Amino acid sequence: MYHDDNNNIQPQYSSSNKRDSVARRICRAEVIIPILLFTTILLAGFMAMGESLKTASYLRYSTVTGYFLQDEESTDPTKFDYVSTNFGLINRTYDSDINDFDATQWQRFERQVRALNRHAAPGTQYKVLFMGRHGEGFHNVAESWYGTEAWDCYWSLLDGNETTSWSDARLTPVGQTQAQTANQAWRTQLKNQIPFPESFYVSPLNRCLQTAFITFDGLVEPFRPVVKELLRETIGIHTCDRRSSKSAISAEYPAYKIEPGFSENDELWDAELRESDSAQDARLKKFLDDVFVHDDSQFVSFTAHSGAITSVLQVVGHRQFGLQTGGVIPVLVKAERVAGEEPERKIEPPTRKPECKGDPLKAGGSIRMLLN
Ligand SMILES: *[C@@H]1O[C@H](CO)[C@@H](O)[C@H](O)[C@H]1NC(C)=O
Ligand SMILES: *[C@@H]1O[C@H](CO)[C@@H](O)[C@H](O)[C@H]1NC(C)=O
Repeated sequence: MYHDDNNNIQPQYSSSNKRDSVARRICRAEVIIPILLFTTILLAGFMAMGESLKTASYLRYSTVTGYFLQDEESTDPTKFDYVSTNFGLINRTYDSDINDFDATQWQRFERQVRALNRHAAPGTQYKVLFMGRHGEGFHNVAESWYGTEAWDCYWSLLDGNETTSWSDARLTPVGQTQAQTANQAWRTQLKNQIPFPESFYVSPLNRCLQTAFITFDGLVEPFRPVVKELLRETIGIHTCDRRSSKSAISAEYPAYKIEPGFSENDELWDAELRESDSAQDARLKKFLDDVFVHDDSQFVSFTAHSGAITSVLQVVGHRQFGLQTGGVIPVLVKAERVAGEEPERKIEPPTRKPECKGDPLKAGGSIRMLLN
């Protein structure tokens, strides 16, 4: 056979015998164990290096402006109506336009976003975030009734007063109507071929669970948003921002998916410490990283809060844009994976409740009316 022939022409048969005996010596346990150990340590070292090379990168976000009116300095957030302006979509042409004159603005916008992703540099992606603020909750009414000062120093710490509860605040009838307005706005834009969200995330606080339910009612079956702990409002002190248990959430919204690792009870809320703005920004950055790393969807919906949405806008470099209760804002976000360590954020410590300046028990709309 060919092999045998080959062996036969190997020269220096005897020296190969010598190598055999060296090999036999190397195979003895006292030699092989240290060698194995050494190799293992070396390998582990290389793997750790590879791991740290892999993790030494981070996601950097920016807002791609020019697509929505909310991006423009000339748009006044206090007067802006997302319903009558097609969610703020600007009528314009795009690079990706082809000569299909029947296509709606939203259809062309969708093609533009998908083209941006198709042609994106490695490590770069684009998503459109449709962020909705919950409708009016009982805590919103109470804060305006008592005034922010008395609310922050006294009333927000209680579960409610004799007639109203605002612990994990629910939507008022006005708040439910605002969510129905959002539902109508989505229905109208669907007729205009708006790219409908491919995935849905919702804060675990009741007012958001309910807002999302009404907003997307009848538009997607089954509606199964993912409940995300990190999407909640500023944490601590205010009982309206203390969530209900996991079992209570799934009993009220059995179709909702609760993210893995979501604790039965609210472990984050603290009766005496309230999260700082910078800590909230860092938390929402972590939430965005989770979504951008694990979700391939290009059109995504978040149902959240004034403070949480303010933090997302801050993280993606969007101008400040305060939403009315029930308001919706779309933002086109670019995420780039950047090599190196993520620049450190300065995180302020949590704050304690402010001291009351006046008597909070004398605060309240009816008393103010009597005084006037
Ligand atoms: C954009 O175009 C639509 C349909 O042509 C129109 O209804 C809408 O008012 C326009 N929006 C703006 C901001 O010009
Ligand atoms: C409780 O607060 C609500 C506002 O949230 C107010 O309308 C109501 O009058 C208050 N109840 C009492 C007994 O003061």
